[in-house]
Amino acid sequence: MTTEKDQVRIFDTTLRDGEQSPGASMTLEEKLQIAEILDEMGVDIIEAGFPIASNGDFEAVSEIAKRSKNATIAGLARAIHADIDRCGEAVKHAEKARIHTFVSTSPIHLQYQMNKTQEQVLDIITDTVTRARNLIDDVEWSAMDATRTPIDYLCKCVEEAIRCGATTINLPDTVGYATPDEYKRMFEDIIARVPNSDQAVFSVHTHDDLGLAVANSLAGVAGGARQVECTINGLGERAGNAALEEIVMAIRTRGDVLPYACNIDPKMLTRASKLVSGASGFAVQYNKAIVGKNAFAHESGIHQDGMLKNAETYEIMRPEDVGVRATSLVMGKHSGRHAFKDKLKELGYELGDNALQDAFRRFKDLADRKKHVYDEDIEALVEDEIATAKEGIKVIALTVIAGTGGPQKAILTMDVNGQHVTKEATGDGPVDATFNAIKSIVPHEAKLSLYQVHAVTEGTDAQAEVSVRLEAGGRISTGKGADTDTLVASARAYVAAMNRLALRQQGTNPGALQAV
Ligand code: KIV
Ligand code: ZN
Repeated sequence: MTTEKDQVRIFDTTLRDGEQSPGASMTLEEKLQIAEILDEMGVDIIEAGFPIASNGDFEAVSEIAKRSKNATIAGLARAIHADIDRCGEAVKHAEKARIHTFVSTSPIHLQYQMNKTQEQVLDIITDTVTRARNLIDDVEWSAMDATRTPIDYLCKCVEEAIRCGATTINLPDTVGYATPDEYKRMFEDIIARVPNSDQAVFSVHTHDDLGLAVANSLAGVAGGARQVECTINGLGERAGNAALEEIVMAIRTRGDVLPYACNIDPKMLTRASKLVSGASGFAVQYNKAIVGKNAFAHESGIHQDGMLKNAETYEIMRPEDVGVRATSLVMGKHSGRHAFKDKLKELGYELGDNALQDAFRRFKDLADRKKHVYDEDIEALVEDEIATAKEGIKVIALTVIAGTGGPQKAILTMDVNGQHVTKEATGDGPVDATFNAIKSIVPHEAKLSLYQVHAVTEGTDAQAEVSVRLEAGGRISTGKGADTDTLVASARAYVAAMNRLALRQQGTNPGALQAV
């Protein structure tokens, strides 16, 4: 017997709710790359940003709207005319555009955040949904903190939003408080009780404060929702949003109990995860479902034995289903530029002539120092090259004297806006000395709030990938660097974070969302 599968729309909010994570803000270039891959992989709606938040956000949303090929492009707007108008302005270039406007509905938000009565909020819904609908046909309305809103009042709000022209109704679990049963029941009740509910698509939007985001989203779908709002790697406010890759693979793997279909090409999940991790500076935990480094690794003898006999003994999905390639030995120091270019293409990178030249030079250098060069090495190297290509300051050369004798000393040469400057500094350990040398070349007030190292592959000659987070004046910025020398990788990561901080201080302001 075949069962007709209901289509579930995937609404990705990595570039809006995801970017709201402290420290996860991205450059325009990174947002464009992420939007491109989301569009290509089959995301139905891309929430590209919050246009009123800053000129940078506005520019990103309008540029993504101009470039999108398949997806609907949405922008977020508070229940304020200026927000809605600015949002309409930003998304209007898209072939399929959406305004997503929201207002709080729960008693606690009404009393403490908005100082408004339920009647006043109903009037706001009438006014703002109508305004949005007069600009664009596709309007989504969200009841912020829906899961802590009395159901009778929520019904009134939803009915009014639909009456004024909202075509999608999103009922978020804003604070990650709901349980799956409750969330499912809320959708069932609303859909049954609101007289015009058949005129809108219902949407889930969940946060992971209790680790229930994905379970809640799937429960909401079981309750009648047909749009899921989620983010790559579960990036998002506080504990994050529901992870897109988990939703998609749950639906695909458990079609027997989740009879739904979505348009996502799962083979692109791994690439998208890496791209978002690199751009946001948020490393993916090793044991993260679907896209973690260990998601398909089998360590115990019993598991390995079973896997060798039949992979299905311990594997419910195949790594290749989500785009994980078998680790392959790439090339050695004798490989030529042509083979290198082909390999980059296979890994999904198309570099311009200059960037290709620089990446090839670094590959040769790496192959000289490292016995085996794997795909992961090439990826780390190219990501590092892309990240540093347009930077205002760059690491040129570093020598560090370390050992038991102390104090450790770093001699560093940097390119500061085209000028080479060399300084030396001591420190409490080689990393500290290196960072002090950077500070003596480019004095700054930023504080180091995270320093993390991980090996790209196995072996003592593995490349180190370093993440550094800096904080200054309430802004946070993360940078990454890769090299077989951990100290060089550390210097690159620190400088990448500084460059991003400078970029952010020049204009974009994702932190404006806090004022909502
Ligand atoms: O979590 C939430 O309520 C939101 C809304 C703005 C949709 O992100
Ligand atoms: Zn949210």
